[in-house]
Amino acid sequence: MSLLIRGGTVVTADQTFRADVYCADGKIKAVGETLDAPAGAQTVDAGGQYVMPGGIDPHTHMELPFMGTVASEDFLSGTAAGLAGGTTMIIDFVIPAPNVPLLDAYEQWMGWAKKACADYSFHVAITWWSDKVREEMGVLARDKGVNSFKHFMAYKGAIMVTDEHLLASFQRCQELGAIATVHAENGELVYYLQRELVKKGITGPEGHPLSRPPEVEGEAANRVIRIAQVIGTPVYIVHNSCRESVEAITRARLEGQRVYGEVLAGHLLVDDSVYRNPDWNFAAAHVMSPPFRPKEHQEVLWRGLVSGNLQTTATDHCCFCADQKAMGRNDFTRIPNGTGGVEDRMAVLWTHGVGAGRITMNEFVRITSTNAAQIFNIYPRKGSISVGADADIVVWDPAATRTISARTHHQKIDFNIFEGMNVKGVPSHTISQGKVVYANGKLMVEQGAGRCIPRPTFPTVFEAVKKQNEARAPRAVPREAAE
Ligand code: URP
Ligand code: ZN
Ligand code: ZN
Repeated sequence: MSLLIRGGTVVTADQTFRADVYCADGKIKAVGETLDAPAGAQTVDAGGQYVMPGGIDPHTHMELPFMGTVASEDFLSGTAAGLAGGTTMIIDFVIPAPNVPLLDAYEQWMGWAKKACADYSFHVAITWWSDKVREEMGVLARDKGVNSFKHFMAYKGAIMVTDEHLLASFQRCQELGAIATVHAENGELVYYLQRELVKKGITGPEGHPLSRPPEVEGEAANRVIRIAQVIGTPVYIVHNSCRESVEAITRARLEGQRVYGEVLAGHLLVDDSVYRNPDWNFAAAHVMSPPFRPKEHQEVLWRGLVSGNLQTTATDHCCFCADQKAMGRNDFTRIPNGTGGVEDRMAVLWTHGVGAGRITMNEFVRITSTNAAQIFNIYPRKGSISVGADADIVVWDPAATRTISARTHHQKIDFNIFEGMNVKGVPSHTISQGKVVYANGKLMVEQGAGRCIPRPTFPTVFEAVKKQNEARAPRAVPREAAE
């Protein structure tokens, strides 16, 4: 099975050039100006189009059991929707309930993900702590290709970790050369504000952003960055939504600390007015954490991307339909938190990023694919158009348009936070493992074709961070030894 993508302009994170791309056996075999198609090869005409690495969404939650229900999008429908939008790989989350062994949870998620039609990988959340958790982190890192562990500083009484457990886990990440990822919101403050608001009779979705103001996020971002600094471990903060957390990341990076920041397409484009909409269902459909923010934060997020202080874009794709959101009809704290977007991220970012003149095409590739591949250690297998890389490719038609709508999207959710948005620049073809799986509006996916992609740990980077830290901090010497 081979494929020649002919006549396009290749756009990578650092170059733009005219080239054909030949794929066989799931890999890119040749990139060159005029390649001949071997007999029997399928061809895709990419004339007038861009040929880019397929998108990587580093933050999704397919069929996640959460807040008393289960996310409506499953691994098959979710990866298919991603492919329709040019995303060829997701990194999802194994989230063990407290006291559930990590490896049991990992096997459970792996079972669900078997039906995926595009490649995937897993971050594993640390929701509790014991010697067994410590040991199983090692097994996951060494034997299962897990190089990132997630920590929720919010969702008190459910999956939130205490600072004590968070730092024990960070220390373990440091030892293993695995990256610590974090949902940064102060869960105690959220809990306190939620109770106060409900006491005052504020029970509708408008209470959601009031219970999670930017200070709540900024405090947690600053705290976790300092914890990571003391432990000497790199840290990746997911879904930064506001000035406060971007400033915390920027400050730390200026000091030379290895801190990475992710931003969601939704936070870049949807503002908090949605929570004041008189239609309860509309407002509830936008309940996600951190919440959508006042418009002025969006500009800060774009600047974070442009300056490189934020490196990745994601969706936090976590779908709940109207009947599920209705669980919180009388109490906003019970509305399942989450919104969709895996299908729309690339087109939305192209339109409002490249199309609006905010970012270049190469920066688009960086923030939608390459940076995630590099941070999570799967580059250049993913995130690149180069010989030997996986043939996960999107052929991008910059002139084509689409109006985003829940009526036409492939996502298994009855709502779309980008409803009615006109995008210019959409995939004409998506190629996964060298096969055309989406062409001109038609999906041709195969259930179970997706593979779990192992992500090796990076001990050398971590060793460097540790040495840097030791050089900076005065060495602790017992008093007698110092005399
Ligand atoms: O509201 C959200 N973001 N739901 C999914 C879980 C999380 O916090 O990432
Ligand atoms: Zn989160
Ligand atoms: Zn999430």
